Amino acid sequence: MSFKPFRLDGGGDSVVLALPDGGPPRLVYWGPALPLDEDLQVLADLSADPVPQGGLDDGEPLSWLPEAGRGFMGRPALEAHRDGQLVITQLVAREVRCDGDCAEVDLADAVAGIELLLTLSLDASSGVLSSRVRVTNAGDSALTVDWLAAGALPVSHDEIVSFGGRWAREFMQHRQTLGSGAIVLENRTGRTSHHAPPFMIAGSPGFGESSGAVFAVHLAWSGNHRLAAERLRDGRIQMQAGALHLPGEAVLAPGETLETPILYAARSDAGLNDLSARLHGFVRSAILPREVSASQRPVHFNTWEAAYFAQDEASMMALADATVAIGVERFVLDDGWLRGRNHDRAGLGDWAPDAAKYPRGLKPLADHVRALGMSFGLWVEPEMANADSDLLRAHPDWVLGAPGREQPLGRHQYVLDLTRGEVADHVFALLDARLVESGAAYLKWDMNRDLTHPVSAGRAAVMRQTQAVYRLIDRVRAAHPGVEIESCASGGGRADYEILKRTTRIWTSDCNDPFDRQPIQRAASIFFPPEIMGAHVGPADSHTTARRNSLAFRAFTAMGGHFGVEADLMTMPESDRRALAEMIALHKRLRPHLHGHALLRLDHADAGCLATQQGDGDVWLVAAAQIATPVYALTAPLRVSGLEGSARYRVRLLNPPEAPRASMKKRTALVRGETLEASGLALMTAGLHLPPLRAGEIAAVLIERIETPAEARRA
Ligand code: DGJ
Repeated sequence: MSFKPFRLDGGGDSVVLALPDGGPPRLVYWGPALPLDEDLQVLADLSADPVPQGGLDDGEPLSWLPEAGRGFMGRPALEAHRDGQLVITQLVAREVRCDGDCAEVDLADAVAGIELLLTLSLDASSGVLSSRVRVTNAGDSALTVDWLAAGALPVSHDEIVSFGGRWAREFMQHRQTLGSGAIVLENRTGRTSHHAPPFMIAGSPGFGESSGAVFAVHLAWSGNHRLAAERLRDGRIQMQAGALHLPGEAVLAPGETLETPILYAARSDAGLNDLSARLHGFVRSAILPREVSASQRPVHFNTWEAAYFAQDEASMMALADATVAIGVERFVLDDGWLRGRNHDRAGLGDWAPDAAKYPRGLKPLADHVRALGMSFGLWVEPEMANADSDLLRAHPDWVLGAPGREQPLGRHQYVLDLTRGEVADHVFALLDARLVESGAAYLKWDMNRDLTHPVSAGRAAVMRQTQAVYRLIDRVRAAHPGVEIESCASGGGRADYEILKRTTRIWTSDCNDPFDRQPIQRAASIFFPPEIMGAHVGPADSHTTARRNSLAFRAFTAMGGHFGVEADLMTMPESDRRALAEMIALHKRLRPHLHGHALLRLDHADAGCLATQQGDGDVWLVAAAQIATPVYALTAPLRVSGLEGSARYRVRLLNPPEAPRASMKKRTALVRGETLEASGLALMTAGLHLPPLRAGEIAAVLIERIETPAEARRA
């Protein structure tokens, strides 16, 4: 059967796929929207590859699901066997259904005993492409699926940005040129991971924030994964991603199916900022739970770096009094409230408040917080248990683990086997009870260890455990629809679009030191909108680094995300508390223009200065953060973008230095904090002549559009 090429349209883009050999479709076009009458067959012919010398006679088809059985010599989309017998596929399309922004391609291979459904959709407003594959074992013996990609995106660019990092230093960008071979990110930690999060970008040489062709891929999955950019032997490049199956993890009985996580991809011809605009729009409209996606995020107070495990009802009530006085709107009681939890060796699993710290339970504290006008949030780590817990004393077998093996622990805790119904029911009941008892409107859902022996009933179970975690969160949300959930895994170790379908915030990192936090937020902001990236003003002395930072540096950095405070207000000097209250008030004034709107990463002439511009078009906050000593005494002015050329704007430095300082002898009008007025064109072209910054300083500039009398009359 032969099928015509088909197209998907959305977000100003068109995606065209063709099935030239009746097998899996091949991407023949992804770019700006094509004319409606474009001849797709001609397009398919135009984009067909000649067969080069030195390879197979009929070429090596790089389809959306490349098959070794059709002569593809790179990493195929599907690798499987039946009891050691290699399964060679030559899938044939049985049906193509396409309704303009969504397509399904139904494929089968009777010899291999495999049926496969490819689902693609292009988001109507953002142009983000989703791809997912479901494979069914149509044979009469068990099928072991070693690898199943959610799709293979052919790209013609070899400049690759991948993301790495570690605890307290997430989202580190690595830019490299793909030579021969592959760049592979592999994660076996059982969470999205700190070191190999499933995001990758390929772009034209030197692509930047506002220039260059770029393609981004993201696998929305909170378990193990593999993501690769591979240069094929003939020079073509594919990007592939899928869940990583441990040995024996994906064995399908006859009739059983296996579905991949969703691969999301986006592209732009105008660099990373435009890519982010698409991705942020998509996250806001298609990923985040509907009830919160549009809202402005309340100012948080989190007790972790204020108190750690040293907490009780009286001290937390006093802390709550102090937080409301500086303008906080949500008080989140972090780790330390559980029975025996004076350190991290006990407490997880039972989920009972510690009787010495909270003799009356959590309700009095929660009521106190609410009476102050704040909402109450609670830290939990439901997937875990310490050996020192009633739960594991009663049910030592309720953990993931291999029989007869001592497993290495992480933070002295075990992972509960949530794939078992009775375990999941038990954990749900505990969470439910705490929510009912405290009336908490918010959960910070933490996950603090890697899965080292992820075995359930003798079989590898990371995929099943990941699905079980999703189910547990979904169940909690269904039972408590008003409760918002934050995804945390030792900071940003579980940050992906699948967890975000059921959570509303990621805890971006445990590092609150703005020196390190700036690059973390900058890279994370490529994929995540600012209002869901938790960002806190920590203590002056950072607990993850040896640095001491000014309040302005900490607070303007936190304004780049979902603002919060995580420092001991009780020991903070009164003058600092007042200054922090002023920063919170400023943030609240600016917040309507920051949350839900654009975030542009600006190019600064000095590589050690990270500059961003956030706003809604009428009001912009520009922040230039100096994270290394500048090379020159004066750097080129910072050019802003996105203003309307003919409109007029008021410009003011929000944190002017009170006097000339070590880095400058004389101040200018802007540096003195005077308000200047200029056209958008002037500001974008001439740029902002900021104060010379020393490492650890930040300049925050407010740009406000001036309403013309005619506009005011129209409003
Ligand atoms: C790790 C988180 O990232 C921290 O914010 C804090 O909640 C601790 N866990 C508590 O144990």
